[in-house]
Amino acid sequence: MSTQQKSFSSNLGAIMAAVGSAVGLGNIWRFPYTCGKYGGGAFLIVYLGFVFFLGAVLMMSEFIIGRRAQHTPVKAFQALRPDRKGWGLIGLLGIVTSFFILSQYLVLSGWTTGYVWEAITGSLASLGTSAAPISDYFTQFSTDSWKPALFLAIFSVLVLLVILGGVQKGIENVSKVLMPVLVVLILVLCVRSLTLPGAYKGVEYLFSPDFSKLTGEGILAALGQSLFSLSVGMGVMIVYGSYIPVNDNIFKTAMWITVCDTLIAVLAGLAIFPAVFSCGFDPAGGPGLVFCVLPNVFNSMGSAGIVFSTIFFLLLMVAALTSAISLLEALTATISEHLGTCRVVGAVLFFILSTLFGVIFSLSMGPLSHVKLAGLTLFDSVDRLNSIYLPPLCALGTVVFLGWVMPEHDVHDEFTNHGVLSGRFYGMFRFLARYVVPVALLVVFVSGILM
Ligand code: TRP
Repeated sequence: MSTQQKSFSSNLGAIMAAVGSAVGLGNIWRFPYTCGKYGGGAFLIVYLGFVFFLGAVLMMSEFIIGRRAQHTPVKAFQALRPDRKGWGLIGLLGIVTSFFILSQYLVLSGWTTGYVWEAITGSLASLGTSAAPISDYFTQFSTDSWKPALFLAIFSVLVLLVILGGVQKGIENVSKVLMPVLVVLILVLCVRSLTLPGAYKGVEYLFSPDFSKLTGEGILAALGQSLFSLSVGMGVMIVYGSYIPVNDNIFKTAMWITVCDTLIAVLAGLAIFPAVFSCGFDPAGGPGLVFCVLPNVFNSMGSAGIVFSTIFFLLLMVAALTSAISLLEALTATISEHLGTCRVVGAVLFFILSTLFGVIFSLSMGPLSHVKLAGLTLFDSVDRLNSIYLPPLCALGTVVFLGWVMPEHDVHDEFTNHGVLSGRFYGMFRFLARYVVPVALLVVFVSGILM
């Protein structure tokens, strides 16, 4: 098998980069409102089960495939079973998924970047504390024709610059700085939020289990969220897997990433809900919670509000940045390997394409809202594709490949670092990867389509 020289410099570097990929808008924007909606603690229990028994297994599978093959997704599947080249299609599916996720992610990241600006300049603070002007402001901002596109482009350029820096100097170093910054920012917000009067109501909302709200839909949401949050089911972790140093323990690395990702999601909930309750706002803000409800919360904190809202949107932007970096990296590495070009060509190509698609998806909420695919706007169509169809399908292909198609000694070798590690959890890992995870994914995929 060919050896790539590209690799993270250490286990810590690999963990930081992968945590950077996993921790994103999914943790800070999506997890809190989904958890609140489906019964708080009840949702959390189910979510934890999915994260550790499904998501982590998928992450280990992707790392094993990537590190064993030392290739990007399409070639990785082909290299591990040269006699069954068709499995390369799963890799291709992953790369297509990464592209659509990146384009959609850029839209939300663009809003976040815009809100950092609006927070610093005091525009958000000037809206006061009544709900209507703040949500009108968000509607106006997100449906405007040039503003979201401009901020989207600024954000994409930042992502491109990191990728051009390379795997160690760009991705790894940026993640090693930004991840601790993110933890500090989120802790500052947690302390502020938890010390507000009446904060306990938010803690209660997040943790006290209400099993009556945990519907079948809630269980599916927990599963979807666990895949999305860990960045699995799109080949990105196969690419990162190929950069993991040979003597790193894949099981431990994946566990660390899973634990960090989950902790940050819970901390995000603790930063958001106590403040929302304390200021008397509606916690069921759904996707608009972050952009429509939080500015309200900050504005009711008086002059310190500007500081806290800036910290919050900066936090969101940092989280989004390290995730977008991993998406562009997966695309860049793949195209450069296939075309045999240098990274710069691949990076610039996908930078242009994803920014272009991102702008189109963004415009589909404003000037292009009349363009519909099967009754949905372009943004909603891509959202459906990204949440219901592509990731579970790609995840299913990946885990079936690992459990049933890839030679078992390759899997065992990578799990135990060629017999150096005891591989205590290998039996359990293999059982989950062969039976439990495929069945669970099949159920999600089928019910997602039927719903
Ligand atoms: N995990 C990211 C988040 O929580 C989102 C995401 C999904 C992602 N799939 C990805 C990021 C693939 C990078 C690569 O926001």
